[in-house]
Amino acid sequence: MNSTLILKGNILYTSRPSEFISIPHGYIIAVDDVVVYCGESIPPAYAACEVTDYGDNLIIPGFVDTHAHAPQYCNRGLGMDKELLPWLETYTFPEEAKFSDPDYARLVYGAFVQDLWRNGTTRSILFGTIHKESTLVLMELLQKAGLSAYVGKVNMDRNSPEFLIEKTQQSLIDTKEWLDASLQFGPLVKPIITPRFVPSCTSELMSGLGKLAEEYNVPIQSHLSENHGEIDWVASLHPESPNYTDVYYEHRLMGQVPTVMAHCIHLSDVEIDRMAETQTMVSHCPYSNVNLSSGIAPIRKLMKRNIPIGLGSDISGGHIVSMAKVLTEAIGLSKMKWVEVDQTYAPLTLSEAFYMATKGGGKFFGKVGSFEKGCDLDALIIDDTSIFDPNERTLEERLERWLYVGDDRHIVERYVAGHIVPNPQG
Ligand code: GUN
Ligand code: FE
Repeated sequence: MNSTLILKGNILYTSRPSEFISIPHGYIIAVDDVVVYCGESIPPAYAACEVTDYGDNLIIPGFVDTHAHAPQYCNRGLGMDKELLPWLETYTFPEEAKFSDPDYARLVYGAFVQDLWRNGTTRSILFGTIHKESTLVLMELLQKAGLSAYVGKVNMDRNSPEFLIEKTQQSLIDTKEWLDASLQFGPLVKPIITPRFVPSCTSELMSGLGKLAEEYNVPIQSHLSENHGEIDWVASLHPESPNYTDVYYEHRLMGQVPTVMAHCIHLSDVEIDRMAETQTMVSHCPYSNVNLSSGIAPIRKLMKRNIPIGLGSDISGGHIVSMAKVLTEAIGLSKMKWVEVDQTYAPLTLSEAFYMATKGGGKFFGKVGSFEKGCDLDALIIDDTSIFDPNERTLEERLERWLYVGDDRHIVERYVAGHIVPNPQG
């Protein structure tokens, strides 16, 4: 038996970056969790089906966070006085070491998963820690919650404190065991190979992870070109490689399987060529880039090269889980790039940033982040009536205002792959 779901309300989504599609009091029809129709009236074939009517509420796609560190959740809003490398040493690594204890992991990951739910992040691409058991706990909690995610057990075998480092061979063995154990999850929760970044992974480890990614056909995530100190360090560790991007490329960590790289702020033109050629996704993390004084990513330039782009909270380099706020920050930062740095970088429009936070990042998951035919039905129902304004507004204006001044209290329902997702903590 096919299951049919029909949602009615004020529909807004982006099928391409340049404009919103806006359907007042329209219908989304999903059969077996996949959208078959989105438009103004119900086609006759579905006339007898039950309709869930959300009245004057907005219906938008669920948000996609393409880069966050679940184990850094308790550090959000702390330790913002340093740049990347001392920040990692001082705040991040000591916190991540605590995840050798699966009970601590369960406590923190439970709260983090609930915060994703609260903020309407229906899909996410997450770093765990080097600990395989705790990483499996995160996957279990996401699966139980009904949220979709790629989750990575992190690999680190050099330049790391003795309380958060692996031996090369053991790291590969643990990764294989963790990949095998992850098969119990799915289809919404899946593994992703996660070398932390070049400075914390030896060549031997990176090559081994590239082989595992191909063998298991799983995607890859890492960090790339975030901070000048980091970039100089990579150049001194890898004098044989022409640039930071090609260190990953030469270790078969880019271009073999779908890959997402966080930040990509200071890429040279040849590195941008490589990103375009390999169709590596950039996860743009504006709050993190501001907090850690990392820089302003050249998003307009990357867009012009057709490089796939998603947005990331980068908890806890970034302090905000809400992708609504991450996308408005991406717009703000792009305006600063335009006015302060280079007038050829036109600021991001609302529809462009919204696209990145939905369909752009959603590409990593297949057909996700839009209400076009064939997409998995991920949706948020937004009741914005408590945001005071006695004036008539268009649907786009109502969405813009909710993105800027609204919050999770206005999200009254969340759907992932055609199913309502209740509060994971009851
Ligand atoms: N580079 C390597 N590790 C990290 C991390 O945890 N956060 C950020 N923002 N950059 C990194
Ligand atoms: Fe990060």
